[in-house]
Formats: sequence, structure tokens, C-alpha cells
Amino acid sequence: MRVIEAKDYADLSRKAANVISAQVILKPNSVLGLATGSTPIGTYKQLIDWYNKGDIDFSMTKSINLDEYVGLDGTNDQSYRYFMDNNFFDHINIKKENTFVPSGVANDMEAECVRYDKLIADMGGIDIQLLGIGHDGHIGFNEPGAAFEKTTHLVTLDERTIEANARFFASKDEVPKRAITMGIKSIMQARKLLLIANGPDKKEIVQKAINGPVTPLIPASILQFHPDLTVIYCFN
Ligand code: GLP
Repeated sequence: MRVIEAKDYADLSRKAANVISAQVILKPNSVLGLATGSTPIGTYKQLIDWYNKGDIDFSMTKSINLDEYVGLDGTNDQSYRYFMDNNFFDHINIKKENTFVPSGVANDMEAECVRYDKLIADMGGIDIQLLGIGHDGHIGFNEPGAAFEKTTHLVTLDERTIEANARFFASKDEVPKRAITMGIKSIMQARKLLLIANGPDKKEIVQKAINGPVTPLIPASILQFHPDLTVIYCFN
């Protein structure tokens, strides 16, 4: 595990973007596992900036996202598909048909889970997975529980997650109660992992996740077992 302390959020974002940009330069047809939340926004901005300067070419790159709210389609401005288009894909030359986010509105959500796992396998797995971390230690929407859930599955969001994500919605009541998320096995099978965490409120959970016991009660703690994990944090 490599643990890197960033000076501030801009530094964290540049460092994370550097890692992703190196991946795309070295392997232009990389499969990028991507994340939502407020933390990666600066990373995406930096990558867009380097793309505009002609430093990175995403034309052969594919992406697969971690999760989506159940009940929101891609035109809903709170959906993670909308977030990814708006914050990243619409500003670079990745082909939209090569970007994948689980559907939150499939008729058969169980079948959507199976389809998503097959999609990851058909893409040849994930080259680098970008991750944020929730205050309860969730990665994607893998919430604390009795066991690590291996494959793509449906989750009922924890009260703490709903509260944390309410800031993006008009009110807490509007936050969807359920989500679809990539499982721990798919995340752990990514060839590289890049976990980013920003702000004093993330300090305690990051320390527990990377130094504490590995337990499904802190889903991110499993990342300690990954052979190529980089953690970039700024707790200022
Ligand atoms: C959401 C996402 C996670 C993300 C987490 C932290 O719940 N599903 O993938 O890591 O929020 O978000 P933030 O970066 O805004 O703290």
C-alpha cells in the first residue's frame, strides 16, 4: 500500500489525476473504474484540463462506474450517470458508448446486477479503480454489514449515507433509499486501486480503514489486502 499525504484538495486532485493520466498514456485502451461524490470532482477537472491541452487522449478508453441510485434515470440531475456526463465525459473525447454506469431504472434490477458483472468480465476487468470513501467506510455503495458482498447487488442505504448525500438534494426525503453497486470482489479484482479522501471529517474512517482490522463493518478495510493500492488523502 502506498499512502500519500496531499498538501490540499488541489494537490490531491492533481496527484490522483496524474495517476489516472499515466494509466491512460501507458495503456490508451484502459478500462477506468470511476467514482462519484464530491471528492473526485477536482480529479476530473484536472484530467479535463490536461485533455484540453492535448496531453491525454481518451478515444480508446472505456469506463465503468461503481454505482447508481435505484429509481433515478440518467436524465435526473441527481443520478450518477448525469454526474459523470456533466463532470467528466461531456468534456473529453471518450466515446459515450464506452462509458458504463449501472441502470437504476431497469425493469428487472436483479438481472441488471448480473448484466453488470458480465459487462466487467467482458471488458477484461478493470485496470484502475478510483474510489472515494463514505463516513461509515463504504466504497461504492457497499455499506457496512455482516459480510462482504462479492458481486453487483442492490443495497438499502444507511441512514448516515442518506444524511451525508442529502446535501446534493432539495431535501433528505428526496435521497433514494436504495442503490445498485459493484461488489467488493469486482473492486478487489481491479488491477490497481486509487482511494482518495479529503477533509478532516474523513480522517478517522480512513485511519480505521487502512490501519485497523479488516472487517465487513468497515467495507474499505478489505482494500488492505489489495496488492496495488494507493491512498491519497488530505485531512486539512
Ligand atoms: C457516495 C458514493 C461513494 C463516495 C461517497 C463519498 O455515497 N456512492 O462512491 O465515495 O459518496 O462521497 P464524497 O466524496 O462526497 O465524500
